[in-house]
Amino acid sequence: MASLHELIKIYEQEINNFQPSDAADLENYRIRFLGTKGIVKQLSGEMKNVAPDERKEAGQMLNSFKSLAEEKYNSYANLKQEQNNGPVIDISLPGTPIPAGTRHPLRMVEDEIVSIFEKIGFSVATGPEIEDDWHNFTSLNMPAHHPARDMQDTFYVAQNPDWVLRTHTSSVQARILETQSLPVRVICPGRVYRNETISARAHCFFHQCEGLYVDKNVSFADLKQTLYYFVTEMFGENTKVRFRPSYFPFTEPSAEMDISCTVCGGKGCNLCKHSGWVEILGCGMVHPDMLRNFNIDPEVYTGFAFGMGVERITQVKYQVNDLRLYSQNDVRFLRQFRPA
Ligand code: PHE
Repeated sequence: MASLHELIKIYEQEINNFQPSDAADLENYRIRFLGTKGIVKQLSGEMKNVAPDERKEAGQMLNSFKSLAEEKYNSYANLKQEQNNGPVIDISLPGTPIPAGTRHPLRMVEDEIVSIFEKIGFSVATGPEIEDDWHNFTSLNMPAHHPARDMQDTFYVAQNPDWVLRTHTSSVQARILETQSLPVRVICPGRVYRNETISARAHCFFHQCEGLYVDKNVSFADLKQTLYYFVTEMFGENTKVRFRPSYFPFTEPSAEMDISCTVCGGKGCNLCKHSGWVEILGCGMVHPDMLRNFNIDPEVYTGFAFGMGVERITQVKYQVNDLRLYSQNDVRFLRQFRPA
């Protein structure tokens, strides 16, 4: 029988020539050389037959043979991992970004409006989208014959002639005055509905943010300063504001507020229709009759209210020229608002 020395030489040769073609090949190698009944084990068993004075040398040979067999196996560990787990992954490499959704542009702008007012002490209030006649119209000084109540403009709920889809967030003003004790300072974001033919400039639903502040000694100057603060936060410090007299049944005096055009800075462009100004909201001092509707004495309390369209603010801020884009869910449009 070949001596241990000769056997080791032969097996070393085999190991040096070995090159696995796949993981199964490598596994066969492992079983043949390193398995529990493998060659390394068998040769170790031969040690007892080695003459005592040769044992030391034989032991060293066997040890280095064992290392050789193991090193060869370990040098193909990648192959093994690949077969078991798919491609080898270098976890230190930067990852591939997973495409994530984003907030809708209208929601982003609504959140920004709300947080600007929260900074100066306004709290958020909401109300129902299906509203009754009293909160949407009558309590706001819009009696039965008022043109705003026309079927042309308002969606009525078929089951109950007293119910409408709210046409403005001013209905939340009414609910606040009805339920909360004074003073109140609220910002009310929400969706509103009007019976309009859908086009680039009109939609059957859109979004508003209503503001209401009622306390003792609230003046028109407070209204102007509050809205001026909002505009500089929203559109930048260099933005100018102007107020034009207007009419709303539930405010007196009433005004519309324009800001200097954010695109051309006032020189004249398509957004401002070459006037240098863009209208962004309606406002006024809460009408004494409206306060009386909620048993508030207008001799003691005064207040201001304003209402702005979220689509309008978004349009002015981002130059969106077609209202329909907001509800078409075209990801090419929506992706443009992804935060950097
Ligand atoms: N509700 C009014 C509208 O929809 C806006 C407004 C709100 C005006 C509050 C004055 C005060 O046009």
